[in-house]
Amino acid sequence: MQLWETVFGYDAAHNSPGLAIDKKLALQDGLLFVALIDGRVVGSILAGYDGHRGWLYSVAVDAGQQKKGLGSALVRHAEAALTELGCMKINLQIRGGNEAVTAFYESLGYVVEPRVSMGKLIPQNI
Ligand SMILES: CC(C)(COP(=O)(O)OP(=O)(O)OC[C@H]1O[C@@H](n2cnc3c(N)ncnc32)[C@H](O)[C@@H]1OP(=O)(O)O)[C@@H](O)C(=O)NCCC(=O)NCCS
Repeated sequence: MQLWETVFGYDAAHNSPGLAIDKKLALQDGLLFVALIDGRVVGSILAGYDGHRGWLYSVAVDAGQQKKGLGSALVRHAEAALTELGCMKINLQIRGGNEAVTAFYESLGYVVEPRVSMGKLIPQNI
């Protein structure tokens, strides 16, 4: 998705938009949402629900369309889908260096929680 290349400028192979979108669509969980203007993707959000927690990923709005409420609408739309699935709590992660975006999520009711985030790659799937 060109939007992600522009907004996030991914460097790691496991975050390659093509790979991420193909894998998400293959799951058929109905939790990838985009905002369109004249057929062009100007916003996106991925959600995930594991039966315990809901997660939000890849929240992005085209630079020319930001600060118009699109990001909030995407988050609320994903929240509604997760709520419908029975989700009781939604988490998200913000990359180091992008802390300013905390204000965006706080405006939507999210609070910063003291957690240490850890991860591990599964090379055979990348
Ligand atoms: C974060 C992002 C999705 C917000 O989208 P948006 O469409 O501009 O958001 P909204 O217009 O719905 O803004 C909602 C509120 O959050 C605030 N806000 C939006 N982006 C913000 C930012 N980057 N930093 C601080 N506050 C922000 C707005 O001022 C607005 O508050 P207001 O209603 O009091 O004016 C968009 O800035 C973006 O794509 N950023 C780059 C990618 C990114 O960092 N994504 C998050 C990954 S965790």
